[in-house]
Amino acid sequence: MIQNITVAGSGVMGRGIAYVAAAAGHSVSLTDVSGEALLNAKEEIMNIAEKGLAIGKLTKESFAHLKDHLVYKTDLEEAASHADLIIEAVPEKAEIKKQVFEAMEESAPGHCLFATNTSTMSPTEIASYARRPEKTIAMHFFNPVHKMPLVEIVKGLETSEETVEAIKNTAEKMGKQTVVINEFPGFVTSRISALVGNEAFYMLQEGLGTPEDIDKAIKLGLNYPMGPFELADLVGLDARLNNLKYLHEKLGEKYRPAPLLEQYVKAGRLGRKTGKGVYDYTNNEKS
Ligand SMILES: NC(=O)c1ccc[n+]([C@@H]2O[C@H](COP(=O)([O-])OP(=O)(O)OC[C@H]3O[C@@H](n4cnc5c(N)ncnc54)[C@H](O)[C@@H]3O)[C@@H](O)[C@H]2O)c1
Repeated sequence: MIQNITVAGSGVMGRGIAYVAAAAGHSVSLTDVSGEALLNAKEEIMNIAEKGLAIGKLTKESFAHLKDHLVYKTDLEEAASHADLIIEAVPEKAEIKKQVFEAMEESAPGHCLFATNTSTMSPTEIASYARRPEKTIAMHFFNPVHKMPLVEIVKGLETSEETVEAIKNTAEKMGKQTVVINEFPGFVTSRISALVGNEAFYMLQEGLGTPEDIDKAIKLGLNYPMGPFELADLVGLDARLNNLKYLHEKLGEKYRPAPLLEQYVKAGRLGRKTGKGVYDYTNNEKS
């Protein structure tokens, strides 16, 4: 039975995962190397919870549980030591994930399951950073986590069926629907999303139209709920570039990152989280 969940990384995704896990009645430790990231995460989680309570999406009991059973820690090893499940949501860089999985292996109890929220990377490779491949899996949440209905569950080479079942049940308890797939770089969702988003950057670079017009064409002509630039700004341009670099390495030329995307990242235009990406959010409005 999964009751204690530790989340490693309190950025865009980790804070959302901690929220849905605590709202579903788990005891949650949200961890990060940055105390500042944890403070921001706490503020954002409480905002979402208060809004959820006000509009009836969160019951009074769930709100009270979340306040009492979601804790914020900089010590991953300590938080891992009493976890039944650790969900890793640190940056999409192999060397960082390796360091975090090695630390998890050192401290977590033997029965603890390991899940990675990677967007693109192989859960089999990530499992090799620890010593429990049968208990390691990818649990791919979407942004914003409290609103998006899907968790894409990706099995590694040695992931056991017990682990798949336990993770499926846990995601469903968090109110999510699931698909279970076998691993391949980019899974189903990131492989399509990275391609569409990258093509939009090539179009912008080629001068086909403004970001607004390209987004409008995709939304109204193809019935996408968000335009590719609106989505890239939400996901984070750095996260999108990391995904593309990985897919380019693994799947070839069609995933080569658009030079304009690389330029935006170099300029620090990372999207909503920095106030400016393709669009400018500094006045709290998209412009
Ligand atoms: N952003 C998205 O829309 C999205 C969607 C699905 C999956 N993902 C995946 O989720 C993961 C996290 O992405 P994100 O966008 O939340 O990143 P982010 O940059 O917003 O947050 C990452 C957090 O990890 C922390 N961190 C770094 N090293 C750490 C360590 N050693 N221990 C603990 N914390 C550490 C950072 O301080 C930061 O707060 C990535 O693998 C990404 O590909 C992202």
